[in-house]
Amino acid sequence: MDLNIKNNIMPSDYKRIRKDVEWHFLRDFEISKLLNNSDIKVSIYDNDLCVGVGRCLTDNVNLFLICDVMVMKEYQGKGIGKLIVNNLIDRIKNINSTDKYIYVMSVKGKEGFYEALGFKKDIKSGYCIHLLGDK
Ligand SMILES: CC(C)(COP(=O)(O)OP(=O)(O)OC[C@H]1O[C@@H](n2cnc3c(N)ncnc32)[C@H](O)[C@@H]1OP(=O)(O)O)[C@@H](O)C(=O)NCCC(=O)NCCS
Repeated sequence: MDLNIKNNIMPSDYKRIRKDVEWHFLRDFEISKLLNNSDIKVSIYDNDLCVGVGRCLTDNVNLFLICDVMVMKEYQGKGIGKLIVNNLIDRIKNINSTDKYIYVMSVKGKEGFYEALGFKKDIKSGYCIHLLGDK
């Protein structure tokens, strides 16, 4: 592997990797919109192939929500997920603020991944409503 990091995500790569990891379908305009509205983005490339992505939503002071950390199936288990999350955390650390909370949304079964990266389950309010619309 010849890995390199870019601070952006191409919509076509996001779409392809999202399909590869078998997440819910999103329409193209929704993908463009969610990427445009994401504050911190990262893509990992193996040569010219984007093999993993991650993004973060933030108010740039207090709250940082890491989401959509996705690594292509055939590239999983090689440290790429860790590279994505650590890149996002490093960039969050560089933001000048006195009190930061970094949250992640973990799907069931992936809690251990985030725990391996230092996240602790001490969230004060961890409830959500998941709304699915028409395709
Ligand atoms: C979850 C995911 C991003 C992990 O990426 P990855 O590249 O396979 O993970 P890494 O190889 O970087 O693993 C980093 C560490 O997490 C651990 N880890 C990875 N997946 C784990 C899991 N499901 N349970 C427990 N530990 C896990 C690894 O053992 C490794 O530990 P180490 O640093 O002590 O060796 C990847 O499996 C994926 O894309 N899954 C589908 C999408 C998804 O569910 N994303 C999570 C969003 S909530």
